[in-house]
Amino acid sequence: MSTSASAPHTERTEPVGVAARARGLTKAYGSGETAVIALDAVDVDIARQRFTAVMGPSGSGKSTLMHTLAGLDSVSAGQVWLGETEITGLKDRELTQLRRDRVGFMFQSFNLIPTLNARENITLPMDIAGKRPDTEWLEHVIDTLGLRDRLRHRPAQLSGGQQQRVACARALASRPELIFADEPTGNLDSRAGLEVLGFLREAVDSLGQTVVMVTHDPGAAGHSDLVLFLADGRIVDEMPRPTAEGVLERMKRFDALQGARPAPEGAAPPRQPAPESTVPTAQPAPEGAVPTAHPAPEAAAPPTQPVPESTVPPGRATPEGAVPPARATPDGPEAHGSPDDPATQD
Ligand SMILES: Nc1ncnc2c1ncn2[C@@H]1O[C@H](COP(=O)(O)OP(=O)(O)OP(=O)(O)O)[C@@H](O)[C@H]1O
Ligand SMILES: [Mg+2]
Repeated sequence: MSTSASAPHTERTEPVGVAARARGLTKAYGSGETAVIALDAVDVDIARQRFTAVMGPSGSGKSTLMHTLAGLDSVSAGQVWLGETEITGLKDRELTQLRRDRVGFMFQSFNLIPTLNARENITLPMDIAGKRPDTEWLEHVIDTLGLRDRLRHRPAQLSGGQQQRVACARALASRPELIFADEPTGNLDSRAGLEVLGFLREAVDSLGQTVVMVTHDPGAAGHSDLVLFLADGRIVDEMPRPTAEGVLERMKRFDALQGARPAPEGAAPPRQPAPESTVPTAQPAPEGAVPTAHPAPEAAAPPTQPVPESTVPPGRATPEGAVPPARATPDGPEAHGSPDDPATQD
């Protein structure tokens, strides 16, 4: 979608602290000659109660940055803090709880549970955590995202954009302090996209939440307070108080630069779905948070089309690095997967 309208920025001058921080954050996939450095010693501070956008070419490390900052994926080197808590080195249980209490995640591939309807998907993380939803807020989220008449539908009965809105509602439902959204408007038409952006903006301005959003769309980035530009696993530039036009200009300059220089050695190639056999082994579990003997992750749905259950082999991780919860059936509390499952924390 294209979201050309820029939202008004709330000017705030006082420092509000740091919601997430990384120092020397490095993530390598594989080893030896085939190693890919997805993140190369990244230092970043994510300001609290701000809307930060992350942009960069495909394969530049945007999703990896989000996953490692959110504690969903392990790091190869460096340190990550959520608030004041260093999460690199935390025990699984502590990390799971911290993430569940403070982080909402909208995955690039949604990770909805195919056997649950939209409402059940939205409340799943809270159900697992044994939290009661704030009904008024939940209804507000559902209405704002236009999901009222789709609540009883399962993901396969929803369009790609509707699935994206369910994933958005799920991330917002428990009002987490910190929301990571990986291309939340990528599959939406411009009206729905603007609504989601407006919603994220409101979450920051009215509710004091912190949002980090990956986007390829300058219009979407124009709604943020700060754009971080990633290339080859490094933050190469940033733009405070961006406008859609300004971001577009900056991207054109990057494109010209990229075209003018040879690709750096070992540069991350554009993201391709990893061959089946390499996925589970090349992908370290997020500090043991993904149970090794995990049952079939049926929720490994790609952005536009859910994978039919029978086509997903057991134990396969999703391309985004999160293993969705165990097979869930709608009719029992035990059906809602493991509380330690990272994919249910988003
Ligand atoms: N599980 C994995 N195994 C091996 N390499 C991986 C894995 N996940 C990501 N990579 C590689 O790491 C690099 C960064 O990937 P990442 O998904 O973070 O990129 P991205 O900026 O989000 O791209 P896109 O815009 O296409 O979503 C890419 O080169 C990608 O191929
Ligand atoms: Mg990505």
